[in-house]
Amino acid sequence: MDARVSRATVCLSGDIHVPGDKSISHRAVLFAGMAEGESRLLGVLDSEDVRSTIAAVTSLGAEVAEEGSGSMGLRFVVRGWGESGPKEPAEPLFCGNSGTTARLVLGALAGWPVPVTLAGDSSLSRRPMLRVCVPLRAMGASIDASDNGTLPVRMVGGDLVPIDYVSPVASAQVKSAILLAGLRAAGTTRVAEPVLSRDHTERMLPAFGVMCDRDNQTTSVSVTGPVTLLGADVVVPGDPSSAAFLAVAAAIVPGSAIRILNVAVNPTRTGFLKVLTRMGVDHSVDEVRFREGEPLGTLSVRYSKGVAATRVVAEEAPSLIDEVPILALLATQADGVTRFEGISELRVKESDRLEAIRSGLAAFGADVTAGPDWLEVKGPSCLQGTTVDSLGDHRLAMTWAIAGLVAEGTSVVRSFEAVEVSYPRFLEDVVSLMGGGQ
Ligand code: S3P
Repeated sequence: MDARVSRATVCLSGDIHVPGDKSISHRAVLFAGMAEGESRLLGVLDSEDVRSTIAAVTSLGAEVAEEGSGSMGLRFVVRGWGESGPKEPAEPLFCGNSGTTARLVLGALAGWPVPVTLAGDSSLSRRPMLRVCVPLRAMGASIDASDNGTLPVRMVGGDLVPIDYVSPVASAQVKSAILLAGLRAAGTTRVAEPVLSRDHTERMLPAFGVMCDRDNQTTSVSVTGPVTLLGADVVVPGDPSSAAFLAVAAAIVPGSAIRILNVAVNPTRTGFLKVLTRMGVDHSVDEVRFREGEPLGTLSVRYSKGVAATRVVAEEAPSLIDEVPILALLATQADGVTRFEGISELRVKESDRLEAIRSGLAAFGADVTAGPDWLEVKGPSCLQGTTVDSLGDHRLAMTWAIAGLVAEGTSVVRSFEAVEVSYPRFLEDVVSLMGGGQ
């Protein structure tokens, strides 16, 4: 499906709720599926990616009753497999486009003697799985994968030994997979990573009755098994990664002023807000409160004239990795050279996002260069309407739609349906902030 976007003639204004956080939704559904007893989940993101996790836990024997869906997301009651363990699924678990489903489910099943095959769509089948297979094998799972470790992967879990793992990548999916496997190993399983990645697993496990020990001086986190999760109630806050697209739209479309309500402001996710501050974007976070260990608040963003370039260093990358596409678009409107460093992980996302950002922004007429793990954008540029493809990557689809709001003329975003992965109502929400016009 093509989306046609014309240069904005009206500003974005008003209040909006973005859909539930994708990372927190995956974890809420998976932990509820693993738990003994009943869990009640509210505000779960209704998108293709999260539906992949729901389908996986259902095939593994969890009972998932959808009690409703609406503007506040999905409402579920889940009865997990708990002490009796998952059942062997009749068919391969199809994870669609979702790396989080594939990697976390591998960890959750590594300690159970249940044969499973995990498969994915063409994009997910190109993404690296060895990063989880290597530590899970070291713990005792038997995993059959191709040499380059891509899906489909066959695994039979077993008796696990705890592990002290130093991850070569700052990846919350890797960290979470090992911690979930560690729940079935007798003793303490510890994971350290080069830079702290998003910590939703560590924050949510205590709600399901499992303590996670964190060392504040290092990035190390541990669980001690064997232990069974207990059913819990979780309310999922809005997704800051989805909010980032609306925030940048408001920052660059003249006259805009919006408020994004109930959005997660976990510091491992809000690196983009620090970048907005450095670039001079007028924004604030208010009314911060906590739910199940996660901070959430109201993000207000106003149009900001004369934004400045900045340097984003490698240590910041994990806290804004999903926001690089939209921040790179913002950089086209900033005065000077904005440089993103240490972002090679973008090459193994839903697309080679680093190259796709470079070629997409160049198609809009921006001055942009990329290296193996860096990106430089020289602004300000007058963008020109163009035709770009999402390459099946949701975050690119949304970035190009926002680019179309500030580019001359009309832009066409091919394969726009990729937004179904994380933000199905994205275009409707942008249009509603523009008063239904545009
Ligand atoms: C996610 C972790 C990140 C992120 C992805 C969601 C998660 O991936 O990019 O969108 O929910 O754990 P990596 O773990 O590969 O860094």
